[in-house]
Amino acid sequence: MRIKYVMSSQGISGPPYTFIYGNTKDISNMINKSTSSPMDISHYIFPRIQPHFHSWLHIYGKNILYWIGPQAELVVTEPELLKEIMSAREISMGKPDVGPIFSKILGGGLVLSQGDKWAKQRKIATHAFNGQRLKNMVPAMVESAKMMLERWQVAGTKEMEVYNEFKILASDVISRTAFGSSYEEGKQLFQKLWALTMLVSKTANKTRLPGIGKIFKDKDVVESEKLQSGVHDLIMQMIRNKEKTIILGDEDNSATDYLELLLKARYDIDDDYKLSIHDIIDDCKTFYSAGHATISLLLSWVTFLLGINTKWQEKAREEVQEVFGNQNPSLEGITRLKKMGMIINETLRLYPPSISTNRKVMKETRVGNMLLPANINVHIPALAFHQDPEIWGEDAHQFKLERFSEGIANAINNNPGAFLPFGYGPRICVASNFAINEAKIVLSMILQRYRFTISPNYVHAPVQNISLRPQYGVKIMFQAL
Ligand code: HEM
Repeated sequence: MRIKYVMSSQGISGPPYTFIYGNTKDISNMINKSTSSPMDISHYIFPRIQPHFHSWLHIYGKNILYWIGPQAELVVTEPELLKEIMSAREISMGKPDVGPIFSKILGGGLVLSQGDKWAKQRKIATHAFNGQRLKNMVPAMVESAKMMLERWQVAGTKEMEVYNEFKILASDVISRTAFGSSYEEGKQLFQKLWALTMLVSKTANKTRLPGIGKIFKDKDVVESEKLQSGVHDLIMQMIRNKEKTIILGDEDNSATDYLELLLKARYDIDDDYKLSIHDIIDDCKTFYSAGHATISLLLSWVTFLLGINTKWQEKAREEVQEVFGNQNPSLEGITRLKKMGMIINETLRLYPPSISTNRKVMKETRVGNMLLPANINVHIPALAFHQDPEIWGEDAHQFKLERFSEGIANAINNNPGAFLPFGYGPRICVASNFAINEAKIVLSMILQRYRFTISPNYVHAPVQNISLRPQYGVKIMFQAL
């Protein structure tokens, strides 16, 4: 009641609170209805994916208060307020409780950690995914893409479901580049993480009452504990194998991949870098999950969009041919792929793999004219920003690459924070360059070999299962060049 009063006295309102459930029942009902059947091919997917926000934003204004059970959450869709909120350290660094199943995937890894631990983990990850190391990863990315394309050649079919193919590819890339392994070696690990992801989606809108989950475990939580223990054992095995192959105590710079950097941090004499074995396991889970789930989706949605916009596909192919001819992509070349950069940005705008980000107000904080009470969550729906005609113009729902021809700053029309595919502020995605490089390499190699269109069997049904996924995959017709 106090939070409601404080917020409404500042002009922020929202749907009425219902005892115990807050608004979770309404949210589930609305999402079940909006995603109960596929949609026509249209890119205006905000009302389908987040029908509750779409409807409430019309009724209550740009920023609203709603309730996940007893937890208050402020939804922000005003770029200016978002900017102020993300510049307040007490908010931009705070991460909300994600529930008992999701925490089994991410645990105390970099996505959810806070304070000094976050700073240590972030330093190591930044080091692992920057500069020369990114350059050294290019051959592994090319190799994984080659393996996928060879599989396609052997299969010889014209129609291909690409989402699954890209999941295998991206798993292989993250295994090779970050862990010195491969998809085949890590297959069981990926399968268990995937099963955990599906459980998170299934239970996403369940009401969680503080303390109750510790006393009563439902069957999903029991299942997630089994999966978590399997993931833990597989990662420990991988760590033991790795420890045998590296000489601990070498200079950091000699570490060839992320896992080696993490393991060196376990023995670091400097407390600013030291990590516990639990933190290392959680970071491995985080990077295995984040490292493949998002990129496979970006690649799937780009292929879908180029499959229906064949004119742009042709322009992208011409550009790839100009830069690489029939040679394998190089880091120097991919920085020159301007049209492909525009295609990737427009895809990330219309189909952002990560639909929303959340923060927790760690202590009462004033942002601009607004006072935010401690412990409320802040929800930033990237999709709402990305599809807002006030920011992008009346054609906001259309695939229109020209908007990115003069770069992102120009496209967002003086609305910093309006384009959020990789987040905003100090916790912005630590591997965005890695992701963009991988996407450009894989797309270049496909365009060098195939012309493609969307299959008549494709069914347009975007859904949110943690990330923005194509419910029935992405079926594409390929024609070898
Ligand atoms: C297209 C691909 C990707 C997209 C769209 C994406 C999106 C995002 C977003 C929106 C955030 C911010 C979350 C927040 O503010 O709470 C984030 C953070 C993060 N991402 Fe990515 N990501 C991608 C690829 C990757 C890859 C490949 C990795 C790992 C190899 C990765 C690892 C992380 C980590 C560890 C964080 C947390 C950073 C922190 O809190 O300091 N992401 N990502």
